[in-house]
Amino acid sequence: MPVRFVFVTDSHHYPDAPKDYAAPKMLTQSQKILDAMVPAINAVSPDFIVHGGDLLCGGSSFEMPSKTYLRSIDEVANAFDQLQAPIYYVPGNHDCDARTGSFERFARRFPIPDTVDVFDAAPGVRVATVNIYQCDPFTDGQGIWTDELDQALSDAAREAYDRRCALILALHTWILPLEGETGSTTIITHADRLLETIATHPAIVMVLTGHRHSNRICLIHGCLLLDTACIIGYPMGFREITLYEDGTVQTTFRQLDLADLVQQSYHRSTADENLGWAGTLQDRDREVVLPRLHAIWNKNQRMGN
Ligand SMILES: [Fe+2]
Ligand SMILES: [Fe+2]
Repeated sequence: MPVRFVFVTDSHHYPDAPKDYAAPKMLTQSQKILDAMVPAINAVSPDFIVHGGDLLCGGSSFEMPSKTYLRSIDEVANAFDQLQAPIYYVPGNHDCDARTGSFERFARRFPIPDTVDVFDAAPGVRVATVNIYQCDPFTDGQGIWTDELDQALSDAAREAYDRRCALILALHTWILPLEGETGSTTIITHADRLLETIATHPAIVMVLTGHRHSNRICLIHGCLLLDTACIIGYPMGFREITLYEDGTVQTTFRQLDLADLVQQSYHRSTADENLGWAGTLQDRDREVVLPRLHAIWNKNQRMGN
């Protein structure tokens, strides 16, 4: 049986937002987007859902009052209670309280890992959710790949391999810069180490990230990197991803059925910037045979959980 799941990220709910803030975000419309998102995800009938973080607008940039922050936690949690499949969360830099930088109130309603949590999400599929904010989310919004995270991921990958399970890694920020891009804040700190760990462990078949609000798909060491655009602004959607027994992965970007809002958000950026947010067709929709998935599911008979 194929495994189908949804990856959605950067929903940035802000009750009664005073403005939209930087493009492509449409924060003044966040309730409408939240209301459309839940039935759109349910319509896909996924086996499970992964959220890539920035559910909220805490942290830096948004000046969100603490009272509004607490209200936003409740409103998102109540909306997501209507999701009909299990959902796994990673924290984003904007999920902490804007005043204190604490994730404590967020974590009360949204189960997030201290370091790395591993879930048996479907037969032969494990999801590793990672908290990359053992640091100050205000000054290190890109997160840090620490020794502790590296050890925990390596252990999870070894165990998944022994069980013939594909391991899907979810974290908030990118691990590979754009071509020609330099500078340390565009990707997670110590990304080289994480890339080396991914290279070493063939059970890691896929990496899911958000944060930059752009679609991009790369294949590295036989592992698929699915960087995904935000749902709070153009292109305003999420990824539907299906894993087939022969190792084929099919991913489709599903835009919300909010044509007017999509247009409004589109008009906040130039054509080039919009191409950056949405990515090329190849960054949105792709069908590939994933060597690592093929290997782990076909080496021996596939095992259950
Ligand atoms: Fe974000
Ligand atoms: Fe972020």
